[in-house]
Amino acid sequence: MRVLITGGAGFIGSAVVRQHIAETGATVINIDALTYAGNPESLGDARENPRHVFEHVDIADRAALERVFREHRPDAVMHLAAESHVDRSIEGPAAFVETNVTGTHNLLEAARGYWSKLGGAAKERFRFHHVSTDEVYGDLGPDDPAFTEDTPYAPSSPYSASKAASDHLVRAWHRTYGLPVMITNCSNNYGPYQFPEKLIPLMVLNALDGRPLPVYGRGDNVRDWLYVEDHARALRHVLAHGAVGRTYNIGGRCERTNLEVVHALCAVLDELAPNEQGPYARLIEFVTDRPGHDRRYAIDDTRIANELGWQPTESFETGLRKTVQWYLDNPEWVERVRSGAYRQWIDANYANRGRAA
Ligand code: NAD
Ligand code: TYD
Repeated sequence: MRVLITGGAGFIGSAVVRQHIAETGATVINIDALTYAGNPESLGDARENPRHVFEHVDIADRAALERVFREHRPDAVMHLAAESHVDRSIEGPAAFVETNVTGTHNLLEAARGYWSKLGGAAKERFRFHHVSTDEVYGDLGPDDPAFTEDTPYAPSSPYSASKAASDHLVRAWHRTYGLPVMITNCSNNYGPYQFPEKLIPLMVLNALDGRPLPVYGRGDNVRDWLYVEDHARALRHVLAHGAVGRTYNIGGRCERTNLEVVHALCAVLDELAPNEQGPYARLIEFVTDRPGHDRRYAIDDTRIANELGWQPTESFETGLRKTVQWYLDNPEWVERVRSGAYRQWIDANYANRGRAA
């Protein structure tokens, strides 16, 4: 099995790559542009494994994508590369349209060109798995039923609108061209190697630095949290067993307000890294809300549970403890992503390299 994974140096993509290398015999072709959010150090031991092939490619580059398909002849694609942070999308939406919409279009076309020339069993076996978010469904009121796969799309932010657009493209490539796709829409992930711009790592690291913990609005927005290794396992499960053309929602069965999350991580920190000045919750500050801030996300996971027999294994309490411990144990990773040190190395490493003959 040869799996082409886009965004494999990011938070979720690196978990998918690490699992594939550690737990299967698959070869992984990892395409990543190494934006600020991508870091090869997140691959751990998988990075040097002979079954891991890294391609420093931007999905904006259609010709490079076509070469990768030609040279590596994948059996499946798992598409995770994206601009992924809502606040950044509010500050600068263009990159979200370029990567999430145009980049997905490029990847679909490169995949279609390759797949259409396959024959027999290889053509039958090929899959294009598009990894998306529950944010495409918009938001819920406190008593609304959770998102199902039939909930109408109503994205609120430039990020979620660009992901919704990419989902529509993927569906159209199935309906119009017969490309064997599947789509998953997942809730908020947390865990090791998450870039410290997202809620949980940002709060853990601010707390350790004694800086304020900036809770947007009143802190009563609700997210459904899933541990990243559970998501990676769900993605592998869908790729192996999911039906072509079908969408699966993935969630953590774990709704929490942001304030509950911040208090929970402060309590774990109080235990694992007590601060002499008092409990970390003293650092909580309420700040101006995010424009268009979605109130609540919740996933109805009946389909993936009943049809594919998948459910999360990690509880929020155990997952949060592992996550906080990981950030305590890995200050070098944090320092290097924060300072961009690895990106300077990448510039130096790739600047004068041509392609190998
Ligand atoms: P991330 O921002 O941590 O990683 C994204 C990766 O994509 C990075 O390695 C980056 O270098 C790469 N990338 C960005 N633009 C690229 C381009 N033009 N060409 C090639 N590579 C590029 O994101 P993540 O949190 O790991 O999310 C991965 C996927 O999962 C995204 O598609 C996201 O929409 C989806 N998702 C994320 C969450 C979540 O909670 N983080 C939840 C549901 C779905
Ligand atoms: P985030 O991790 O950015 O994920 P998303 O917006 O995709 O759900 O934010 C999670 C929640 O935390 C969201 O409701 C916004 C809130 N939040 C804060 O209150 N303060 C912060 O500093 C950040 C980054 C997020």
